[in-house]
Amino acid sequence: MSIDVPFIKSWVPYLGHGIAFGTDADKLLLGLQQQHGDEFTILMGGKKITFLTNPHDYDTLFKQAKTLRGDALSEEVSGKAFGIQWHLFDTRLHEMTVQFDKSLRRSKLGPLTSSMHLQLEKRLQQSSSDEWQQGELFHFLAKLVFEAGGEALLGESIFDDDSLFSEFQHFDKQLPMILSGLPRWLFFRRSDQFLKKMSQKLCQPKPNQSGVMDERFAFMDSVSSDREAQGPINAGLFWAAQANTVVMAFYSVFFILRDDEARRRITQEVHESLSKVSEKTSLGTPELSLKTIDSMPLLDAALDEMLRLRTASMPIRMATENVELSLKSGKILSMKKGEYAAIFPRLTQMNSEIYEQPEHFIWDRFVGKQGPNHFNFRGEPLKYNLLPFGGGLSLCPGRHFSRNEFKVLCIVLFNAFDLELLETDLPDFDKSRLGLGALTPTSEIPFRYRRRQAVLQADK
Ligand code: HEM
Repeated sequence: MSIDVPFIKSWVPYLGHGIAFGTDADKLLLGLQQQHGDEFTILMGGKKITFLTNPHDYDTLFKQAKTLRGDALSEEVSGKAFGIQWHLFDTRLHEMTVQFDKSLRRSKLGPLTSSMHLQLEKRLQQSSSDEWQQGELFHFLAKLVFEAGGEALLGESIFDDDSLFSEFQHFDKQLPMILSGLPRWLFFRRSDQFLKKMSQKLCQPKPNQSGVMDERFAFMDSVSSDREAQGPINAGLFWAAQANTVVMAFYSVFFILRDDEARRRITQEVHESLSKVSEKTSLGTPELSLKTIDSMPLLDAALDEMLRLRTASMPIRMATENVELSLKSGKILSMKKGEYAAIFPRLTQMNSEIYEQPEHFIWDRFVGKQGPNHFNFRGEPLKYNLLPFGGGLSLCPGRHFSRNEFKVLCIVLFNAFDLELLETDLPDFDKSRLGLGALTPTSEIPFRYRRRQAVLQADK
């Protein structure tokens, strides 16, 4: 039977529920779901969007890839955010993502991961000693991964500028407001300067860039000879590759350090795995092959748990023609050409019917339970219980690399450093990020660190 999805009116013209969404999307969508059921339509920024909140319906949205597309909206958003002029290219965003996804295939990530590992260790060797040093954990880890992962991917001479990280943070913080359409020239001059700088830096290949970037430039040259127009696309990539990763790098270490059992068991797992490695890096530490970093199931499971707690993606699709969706409830949802449907997987990730004590970091929740069909909802196994990287056509192409970055970071720190949190309260997160990906903490965690004596001696 065809259903009439309730349209929930808002008293704010055009923006509709957009303001409430930007203030606290968790609260808004959970409230609407409780009041109106699994499907409802709201107006946000001039667009009518139907939310499907039953996770058994996510697949329905992803499977209709021909008629329900995300690329038109992504092009609109990336055009607005980064100044990309898509009409200058003989291709669409989707084709570019497919190409990038192939370059970042899991099995191909050995050289990029090793390079990130070396960059990370080099920076840690410069900034640490065998004496205790104090710092702020978010800033320390986010900047470390920003530079190490960024240089491994994009090449040399970008990260020599020490102010780049704070400029990036400023741009990233303003992004939700930039997307809301406030006049750029009036409010966002500093962000625009940052973007211009990044576009200039990234419109040409860099010395020692990754094979991934070699392939990306070759592809871009095949669809446009205008290198200047390629700059903003790579500035967009720069943001996509860094914004979520640096935040989640912090949570990877923080959640494990905060839980005594997780910390003990995972450190033990790291030591055991590394003891089997005989190859050394040029810095004299164990080489981290894909085989080694994939041999740590406890670390892997803890990473899924922190992704569950602190990410909120929002895959959104536009109907390119009239379409009918058969929902799990047996109802039919009729969508007209130009209408939008979205999912908000965080409602699933934080659902107490699916996860016991969903607000808590239970470090071994996913041990032996990664992937589909391990958790139930309304009596049936769930195909999609965790979607930190979105899904379907717009699934994040950097998902494998970012996971490798978290693993390398945790392995190096837990193997070679003493780390102590000087505060353990869970920081609140910036609610304006709900729907964008990683949930940035709103306060810092003081900590202290030093290189472990045994490791220092082994290096000499
Ligand atoms: C924890 C780290 C990361 C998270 C949580 C994350 C999450 C996401 C999400 C939710 C999307 C949007 C999916 C959608 O529109 O439905 C996305 C898109 C994207 N991500 Fe990631 N991402 C991460 C790391 C990375 C990295 C390391 C790279 C690059 C090396 C990357 C490159 C991209 C690109 C290029 C897109 C755009 C795809 C498109 O619009 O077609 N991401 N990511």
